[in-house]
Amino acid sequence: MDRELALEVVRVTEMAALASAQWLGRGKKHEADEAATNAMRMMFDTINMRGTVVIGEGELDEAPMLYIGEKLGSAEGIGPEVDVAVDPLEGTTIVAKGHANAMSVVAISDRGNLLHAPDMYMLKMAVGPRAAGKIHLHDPIEQMIEVVAEANRKRIQDVTVIIQERDRHQQLIEAVREKGARVKLFGDGDVGAAIAACMPNTGIDLFIGIGGAPEGVISAAAIKCLGGDMQAQLKPQNENERQRCIKMGIADPDQVLMLSDLVRGDDAIFAATGVSDGELLQGVRYLGDSLAETHSLVMRAKTKTIRFIRALHNLDHKPNFVKGVGG
Ligand code: FBP
Repeated sequence: MDRELALEVVRVTEMAALASAQWLGRGKKHEADEAATNAMRMMFDTINMRGTVVIGEGELDEAPMLYIGEKLGSAEGIGPEVDVAVDPLEGTTIVAKGHANAMSVVAISDRGNLLHAPDMYMLKMAVGPRAAGKIHLHDPIEQMIEVVAEANRKRIQDVTVIIQERDRHQQLIEAVREKGARVKLFGDGDVGAAIAACMPNTGIDLFIGIGGAPEGVISAAAIKCLGGDMQAQLKPQNENERQRCIKMGIADPDQVLMLSDLVRGDDAIFAATGVSDGELLQGVRYLGDSLAETHSLVMRAKTKTIRFIRALHNLDHKPNFVKGVGG
């Protein structure tokens, strides 16, 4: 993949973030998601690439745009052939409520390299480079904590485990507390949480829990760029969901998926722009005089470069991409 693609893709997440940030705190999650999706779709068509959405807003019959199988890229039909995973607004409820940690995210790989994950639950575990390869998804949580403590040269009491605040995680949370480690709970947005566990200097050592499978594949692309490790297992809730896994090419839905199953090959690009202030990125800020500031993160697996990009946008010059609320 061309490295220039990384900077092109960050323009896509910037526009989606600018569009959805206008809906912050207005109690309208569908409108916020739609604004992000529309802006993202328009920006993709300015990029010279031949992309296919493999993780998107849903199937053709349930999503008018950025649906699985949709082709993306400039009309010239030139550029690299790539798989595209999108989450135009990771944290729709967050934006509706005006909470922290919403982002717009995109991951790209060479064609055929991203797992086609069905929209269902997935058990996920992520750790940074020092603990990579030392933990298995099915290890007891107590053992995981001991391993990350040693790998990150910390006392158990200083280890921080990030977990989504859900009833399904109550036992897990209790077990972490019992072991003596710290628990950081978050409401929504597990892509950011998984990345935080793999980034240097966040103080977070381990991400674990059940969340969305599409978000899992996007997180895996980011974690590949960071040199961390992620393992996952689909959690179909019924026979219908099991059959969907098989239909999407996952012969054994119970298989533990390693990072290399989630994102094949040695390259991937990940870009994210903050919508609301969060663990990793500051959200969109309106500065007056039609100026808006965005903070983005863009990374490439091949070179492991992590770039933070701060941009000032003049909204008067982007009317097609950033329509006002109700516009
Ligand atoms: P949305 O942006 O689709 O609202 O997803 C937010 C999210 O928190 C994800 O980050 C996470 O993977 C999933 O929801 C967890 O699902 P649930 O809310 O059903 O526990």
